[in-house]
Amino acid sequence: MDPLVTAKQLIGAARDAPATPALLLDLPKVRANIAEMARRMSALPAALRPHAKIHKSPILGRMQMEAGAIGLTTATVWEATAMIEAGLDDILIANQAVGPLKAAELARIAGLGTVTVAVESGHNAEELAVSAADAGTQIGVLVEYDVGLHRCGTRTHEEAIALARLVESRPGLRLRGLLGYEGHCMLEPDRDVRIQKTRAANEALIALADAFERDGLETGIIAAGGLGTWDITGANPRITEIHAGSYIFMDAFHRNLVPGFEVALTVLGTIIARSGSMAVLDVGRKAIGIDRTLPELIGGKAVVRYEHGEHFIHEEHTAIVLDDDASLEVGDRVELMSGYAPTTVNLYDMYYVVEDDRIVDVWPIRARYGSTTAGPANSPAATAA
Ligand SMILES: Cc1ncc(COP(=O)(O)O)c(C=O)c1O
Repeated sequence: MDPLVTAKQLIGAARDAPATPALLLDLPKVRANIAEMARRMSALPAALRPHAKIHKSPILGRMQMEAGAIGLTTATVWEATAMIEAGLDDILIANQAVGPLKAAELARIAGLGTVTVAVESGHNAEELAVSAADAGTQIGVLVEYDVGLHRCGTRTHEEAIALARLVESRPGLRLRGLLGYEGHCMLEPDRDVRIQKTRAANEALIALADAFERDGLETGIIAAGGLGTWDITGANPRITEIHAGSYIFMDAFHRNLVPGFEVALTVLGTIIARSGSMAVLDVGRKAIGIDRTLPELIGGKAVVRYEHGEHFIHEEHTAIVLDDDASLEVGDRVELMSGYAPTTVNLYDMYYVVEDDRIVDVWPIRARYGSTTAGPANSPAATAA
């Protein structure tokens, strides 16, 4: 049977009813986080285009847009497909989409709504232009600029301007402006240093925007920003939009960086073994994202065990050390805050949506790797209800 149909049989059951590991989405907390970010952004000059890579769900994307987001950001073409086929418009892929299959899919969905993608190479601009011409559509383009992350992006003003001119010359492409993501600043724990580094990154982007304007090139969109820099980049009057996204769920990594949002995503696990003060959960690296920091037990009472300087999180197991007063036994259910939410979500097919400690719905997770990344032929399946 379809796993989603099976899961829906639990609607009405208690939040700890699913077989574990399971991904729980606390709906009131998600609503509160969306409202809180909308409130904060309303005081800033930049608009919010939340990053949907965190949730990969058109349902959540719609909630963000209903709260005032100007569109959605995605990391992959397939996420963009899922959003646009669900009727959510003005989608920006804040990443390079290189290769003929991705270019063809972008050109196809550009016929369904406004689609814009970051570009850093002439090679990619040319293949996007050809695909758009074949499909009879137009793909929006932001020239990506490296503001210090040293990942993607043009490295000099000359390179960026030459690329912008190439984009302008191709009928299948429409130059919309610039993207300069300051990802290297998000990880900075010291707030003062983060402010300093972010301002420097923003200034580098704006210097390029000035050069574009002097040359008569389009700068309608000047995009940057993530959760760690939302209020720094978002306060810059020249930045038109920011792409924060992790505020919707939060995780152990972001909670320490940006206070004021609730942990709305947890992984439900079961204690499967106990030995003295140690307990073992059935939640390992195949069930929870640990890329930036370790998961934490909700409610405390235990910490992830360390041995020889190594955390004890295996593929299917996590060992925790219980506080003296913790009374967890084999069979008990616990919830974990993920270390990093986006890589946790990508491991699951669905969210158990929880309200008042009951499961109220089950939502599919669209466009996750392994399920819907095979190419355009799979895209309708990616968005089926
Ligand atoms: C290009 C880009 N923009 C924005 C973000 C912001 O996401 P977050 O809200 O997690 O900081 C990311 C995260 O990796 C990103 O890669």
